[in-house]
Amino acid sequence: VRYAILGDIHGNWEALGAVLADIRRSGVDQHVCVGDIVGYNPDPARCLEQVRDLGTLVVQGNHDFFTVHPPGAMDMSAVAAAAIEWTCANLEDDHRQYLAGLPKNRTFDDVSVVHNTLEQTRHWQYVLGVDDANRSFAHQDSGVCFIGHTHVPVVFKKKKGLVTIARYKTIELDPDSKFLVNVGSVGQPRDRDPRAAYVIYDSDTRQVALKRVAYEVGRTQEKIRKAGLPLWLALRLAFGV
Ligand SMILES: [Fe+2]
Repeated sequence: VRYAILGDIHGNWEALGAVLADIRRSGVDQHVCVGDIVGYNPDPARCLEQVRDLGTLVVQGNHDFFTVHPPGAMDMSAVAAAAIEWTCANLEDDHRQYLAGLPKNRTFDDVSVVHNTLEQTRHWQYVLGVDDANRSFAHQDSGVCFIGHTHVPVVFKKKKGLVTIARYKTIELDPDSKFLVNVGSVGQPRDRDPRAAYVIYDSDTRQVALKRVAYEVGRTQEKIRKAGLPLWLALRLAFGV
């Protein structure tokens, strides 16, 4: 089975459209989303409808969650909270119901999917290093788990009790190891590469390939300005931070 695994779309329609065109060219059987369909960028409804219409297997991200459960002051930055408030006001009831009904985890075909970590999802903590990854691995029965949340594509590998971290373009999933793969972000990359990121995973060959797709950043930036969203959200897209 060929899976396209995308996440942290964050209401960026131009990035999502470019990624979906790239996916159509390579051909996949199933779309999977590691969460954060909405938040930050100005097209949450359109992105949500596209993801929903593709029959995507989705898990809930923190922005999806906080859009339907308004955040407390400690839960996120002022910029993120302002964008959540804007997003909530620009969705319909059926969108909110969809976001509220998303599961936190999914498992299929020796694959796990969660937004941030399998350790526990209540506080939306990040997997930043090998210690965080090791705590997630303790809850991972499948050979590979796909995550997002940091917007930085990296792979953690656990072999004979040892966890290592690496950047990647392709990964061969050897059966003696477990893998925790961050698929990067479609709509707000933070690895200093402004191109949209997503992953193709083939469960027959057990190969993971990271894809990068350029899109019209300037068009998204213009929409952010017109929407009155914080200008930093436009600026950061140009730098991939
Ligand atoms: Fe995110």
